[in-house]
Amino acid sequence: MTNEIIDETPEIWGKDYSTDSSTVERDYDAFAATGSYDETFDEWGYVGPQTAAAILRNYVPLESRILDAACGSGLTGAALNNLGYQRIEGIDIATELLALAEETGAYERVQRVDMQSFPLPFDDGEFDTVNFIGALTYFETDQILRELCRIVRSGGHVVFSQRDDIMRDQNYGERLETLERDGLWKRLFGTEPMPYLPNHPEYGEEIEVQYFVYEVL
Ligand SMILES: C[S@@+](CC[C@H](N)C(=O)[O-])C[C@H]1O[C@@H](n2cnc3c(N)ncnc32)[C@H](O)[C@@H]1O
Repeated sequence: MTNEIIDETPEIWGKDYSTDSSTVERDYDAFAATGSYDETFDEWGYVGPQTAAAILRNYVPLESRILDAACGSGLTGAALNNLGYQRIEGIDIATELLALAEETGAYERVQRVDMQSFPLPFDDGEFDTVNFIGALTYFETDQILRELCRIVRSGGHVVFSQRDDIMRDQNYGERLETLERDGLWKRLFGTEPMPYLPNHPEYGEEIEVQYFVYEVL
């Protein structure tokens, strides 16, 4: 993607992406500043937040303390809140999106955190669950997954999604298994590739998404 494209026409925001935190922050803030972020995702047919929340509900009790990591405009927190979750914190790198997230009323607290800068500002085992949806694409390495395991208590859960093209191209299946072999987590659930942004001109049926639930050991 280029910032120029986002500034002018977010509706054609492409499938290419950056893993540089400051570029991601700049582009997402620009997208939020258009005032049509949520509407655009809705037009693209994005149901990731609701899909993830429904999956998460099968594993995570309602009283759980949840970190919505890379919460964006709060679609993911709102979807959890709609199911009855109330103890949700949100973090993201883009302050313009965090302002929208705060407006949803779904979060106890939101804060700006660059999730590629370690350690994250949380204690070991601080959360019951991390919900990390639609964002792993923007991370340079899978180190973030190890860090999420650190901040979730043993027996808690990490729920996340990844684009199926990146699963393939960056050998993510093997990467996830390595974390399992290292004793960090065990897989409880994983979907086949599913529609991601079905009405997006570049994603359509070409780029799909998979959802995963891991138990932290
Ligand atoms: C497609 S949005 C998904 C937002 C939300 N989880 C949802 O599903 O609606 C990707 C989000 O990842 C965030 N993000 C990307 N890289 C990040 C980083 N290094 N630290 C924190 N947030 C990041 C972006 O700012 C953006 O809000």
